[in-house]
Amino acid sequence: MAPRILSQEVAREFYLLRVDDEKVNYFEALWSIPEKVTYNAYLLVGNGEVVLFDCWKNTYADELVETIKGIVDPRDITHIIVHHAEPDHSGSLPRVLEVNGFRAEVVTYSMGKSILEAFYKISPKFRIVKDGDELALAGENIKIIHTPWLHWPETIMSYLSGRKILLSCDAFGGYSIPRTIFDDEEVVREYLPSVRKYVATVIGFYRQHIIRNVEKIQSLGLSIDMIAPAHGLIWKRRPQLIVDYYRALAEGRPDEYKILVISGSMYGLMEAATRVAVEEVERLGGRVVFYRFDDSEQPPFSDILGDAIDSKAIILATPTYEVGIYPPLDQLVELITKKIPQKPVLVVGSYGWAGVAAKKVSEKLGGSGFKVIDVIEFQGSASEKNIQRIREGVKKLFESP
Ligand SMILES: Cc1cc2nc3c(=O)[nH]c(=O)nc-3n(C[C@H](O)[C@H](O)[C@H](O)COP(=O)(O)O)c2cc1C
Ligand SMILES: [Fe+2]
Ligand SMILES: [Fe+2]
Repeated sequence: MAPRILSQEVAREFYLLRVDDEKVNYFEALWSIPEKVTYNAYLLVGNGEVVLFDCWKNTYADELVETIKGIVDPRDITHIIVHHAEPDHSGSLPRVLEVNGFRAEVVTYSMGKSILEAFYKISPKFRIVKDGDELALAGENIKIIHTPWLHWPETIMSYLSGRKILLSCDAFGGYSIPRTIFDDEEVVREYLPSVRKYVATVIGFYRQHIIRNVEKIQSLGLSIDMIAPAHGLIWKRRPQLIVDYYRALAEGRPDEYKILVISGSMYGLMEAATRVAVEEVERLGGRVVFYRFDDSEQPPFSDILGDAIDSKAIILATPTYEVGIYPPLDQLVELITKKIPQKPVLVVGSYGWAGVAAKKVSEKLGGSGFKVIDVIEFQGSASEKNIQRIREGVKKLFESP
């Protein structure tokens, strides 16, 4: 089936080229995304010059060339600004250059050049830019902003001074295939959970750089009428909303009532104890988001991380498995320590003969700065005393700042 492509002039002689990737199941071959994703490239035309900003994944190289042909002759592209060398945006660059006859200058940050050369074994004309450079192209003044680690070290943004548009690449993007091109109110409401999931999985590890780069952009005092990211919605109605949302996620400003509960249970003993915690959260007025790993369900890490990033606290329950943490939770805890802002956690464990899992979880999370409220580990099912401790632990989670 041919992919859906949206090619539209979104400002004067400035075009969005968006492809909806319905084929991808695992973003970065890791993150389950049944909601899918879009790749947004942009084209600016003027004064006899044509500037292409980013490309699509190589799966859609032919479609990108055809879409460009709907607006200009690809041979007339004079500049290709590569904001980020990751192949979801650069994969079809070699094909575009080929059709272009390698006439265009490839504009990148210095490290972008070496990555593109190494990935694709191409040697186009490069123009290396640095932070603060201003390029007069296609009748526009394009200001280059180096935004390291959003998402890679070489990532840059472009600000079109005349049109007041910020092309932000991965930052301010999200998963899913939004129904609209722009940030209509109702669509934004549907879309933000996919942004949260995207930030947690893709940029969560670099969250300090979200804060740093947002501050950097703000310090430039740019007047921004539109934010045009490389994934998802274009922000025209309220560009500040997505900037504030990214910052809140990066700072770990939580939803005060949301408690994430994650439980692994091979035969149900652990889950029975977890249900006490769930009940207690609800009794105290909290909202539980519950993920359970058992013999009928193995929920995707991507969804759990998306719900972890803005939760007030986490309750993690794991049986001991072969002298360790129940394997899926072991991997999940590792990801949480890397990608999720520190928050209070309550750890519960069940074992058969010698419990270690809960202790190990608390060491991993505690060692990464998470505030471990209590570690409650018991043989088999929870006793009345353990149940009381679980209830007290939940109460402390709410009280913890
Ligand atoms: C495959 C498997 C491996 C286990 N390995 C250990 C172990 O290394 N140490 C231990 O004390 N208990 C071990 N157990 C026992 C469980 O930790 C114990 O039964 C626990 O109460 C299980 O809770 P659950 O039914 O919620 O998974 C193991 C159980 C299974 C099924
Ligand atoms: Fe990226
Ligand atoms: Fe990307």
